[in-house]
Order: sequence, then C-alpha cells, then structure tokens
Amino acid sequence: MGMLKVVVLISGRGSNLKAIIDKCSKKDVPAKIIGVISNNSNASGLKSNGKFKKIIINNELHKKEFEIKLQNHLKVLKPDLICLAGFMKILSPFIIKRWKNKIINVHPSLLPAFKGLNTHERALNAGVKKSGCTIHFVDESLDGGSIIAQVATAINKKMTSNELSKKILKMEHKIYPEIVKLFAKKEISVKKNKVFIKDEKKLNFFIKNI
Ligand code: GAR
Repeated sequence: MGMLKVVVLISGRGSNLKAIIDKCSKKDVPAKIIGVISNNSNASGLKSNGKFKKIIINNELHKKEFEIKLQNHLKVLKPDLICLAGFMKILSPFIIKRWKNKIINVHPSLLPAFKGLNTHERALNAGVKKSGCTIHFVDESLDGGSIIAQVATAINKKMTSNELSKKILKMEHKIYPEIVKLFAKKEISVKKNKVFIKDEKKLNFFIKNI
C-alpha cells in the first residue's frame, strides 16, 4: 500500500499535529506528513520535529491572496489528505472545491452544536449533559461538513471550561490520528455527503475505549 501524503494546517499550539506525527511514525500506519502550513509564524506547533516542509503564509494578506499562496503550496505538495488542526481560518470554495473530500478538521464539540470559538464555555453555559469532539470533512461553512467520527464525554456540573477543554483535547489526540490511519488504509469513503467506514464496529470499539 502506498503512503498517504498528509499536509497539516495549524495556527497555534499544534498538539493535534504532534499526535498525528506520532501516529504516522508507527509501522502499521501507511501515512507520512509531507508539510505543515501555518498562518502564524509564532505557532508553537511549527517547532515540531519531522522530515516535512514547514511553510508560513503571512496572515496579514488579503483573504484571496492568502488562499492563492495556500493553493500554490498545496499544488506543489499534492497531498492525499489535508488535516486542519487548530487552523483558525475559514477556507473559501476556491480551496474546498479543488480538494473536495480531502480536507478534514477536528472541532472540540459534538457538531453541529457549538460551532466556532469558546466552545467549552458555551457548552457549559447551555447546561448540556455531554460534549466531546468531532472529526469531519470540511465544507465552505464554519465547522461544517459531513461527520466522520465523534467522541463524547459526560459533563459534570462542577467542571470548569478549562477542565472540559483538557479532557476533550485528550480525546482529540486519540481519535484524530486514528482517523488519519483509517484514511491511509483507505477505509473511509464518502458518497452523497454520507461517510462510510469500512469496519465501523471496530472504530466504535476504539471510540468506546478512549
Ligand atoms: C483543538 O482543541 C481543536 O479542536 C480546536 O483548536 C484546538 C487546537 O489545538 N479547533 C477548533 O476550534 C476549530 N474550529 P492544537 O493546536 O493544540 O491542536
């Protein structure tokens, strides 16, 4: 099986990037990161070690100019999968259409609830009994697109948003790399906006044990 070429887009800390790097270093994961692109030169995730290109695109650029640069870098890298990992910019149809069904994202809520920022505060204020994280294909809307996998956790009334964020981040670090692995093994497909997982029972078992 050929290696899945992955590009990761980040804006900050890059802890999900690190989790994906670790997973890709495993023998049974036929995926390699070929590039990390950031809109923030101070993103600490850019300090991650690995044999991949690190590209910074100036965030001050006008959206169209930024995306032309991004598109040009992607055309050179030719990724099979683009992982948004804390990439805090909405991509326009110009990018989304060119890489249809090849861009995925992690969001720290059970989508479609709590799209956007300050997710955990809003979940706690809304008094929901569960939250979690979602891995989804990316469409033109904010945190929108077909859902690939979700991991849920019960919310305890005394939890602070910081505690909830930490708990959910740990889940993200497990599920996101696992989904990259399933892409590498060609076990994920999408038809008419519905996502199919080759061995759904196995993935559900994995999720249960997170
Ligand atoms: C993660 O919690 C991710 O779910 C969130 O940003 C954080 C990035 O952390 N993404 C979004 O909110 C996207 N809408 P990281 O840089 O340590 O991976």
